[in-house]
Amino acid sequence: MPTQHGMFLSLEGVDGAGKSTHIQWLCEQIQKLGHTVVSTREPGGTELGESLRELLLHQPMHLKTEALLMFAARNEHLEQVIKPALAQGNWVLCDRFSDASFAYQGGGRELGAEAVEALEQWVHPRLQPARTWLFDLPLSLAKERLSKSRDPDRFEQEQNAFFERTRAAYLQRAREQNERFRIIDSSQSIEAIQDVLLTDLQHLHSGYVRL
Ligand code: TYD
Repeated sequence: MPTQHGMFLSLEGVDGAGKSTHIQWLCEQIQKLGHTVVSTREPGGTELGESLRELLLHQPMHLKTEALLMFAARNEHLEQVIKPALAQGNWVLCDRFSDASFAYQGGGRELGAEAVEALEQWVHPRLQPARTWLFDLPLSLAKERLSKSRDPDRFEQEQNAFFERTRAAYLQRAREQNERFRIIDSSQSIEAIQDVLLTDLQHLHSGYVRL
């Protein structure tokens, strides 16, 4: 692994896949390994980004507008939070990043990967997470978990076909960028998932040389 400043890590998965369960725990493990960690999320992570998040989750809009606002929030997040944190040698744990746009806007909304790729190339042509954990599980299980959660937002209200397209686009992206992706079978127990995550974190830590 090359020498680098901080380490950029992201968590992905369809709604209900269970990534949120592991965020706090992952932060603690990263700290135990001796790193300062910045935990953040998309859309959001900045004041403007959180305002855009409110609109994105609740306000009906054209699919291109949705993709543009996701990347507008992302650009602000990159400039204000992610890049400065990485430059200081911090580890950044991001709850969703551009892979979510490939999955939800590209796949779910059927905008296509090319349009998302154009935005990605404009906003962050060279920066990608060093590791992306994709929490994957069948639709039936994801739905079951979601029904236990609070009021559904615009994405959580979508039909089964939207979920299936989103999941398929995530898996496609993981195949295309398989070096940085690790697919986590989310139907496993929390303990089994944490075992997998911890082993991977230790591996990332042992290959990490701070500049
Ligand atoms: P989510 O992580 O599910 O928030 P919460 O756990 O609080 O519900 O993210 C909110 C939604 O935003 C989620 O349904 C996926 C969607 N989203 C996109 O459609 N495109 C994107 O680029 C991102 C970052 C999120």
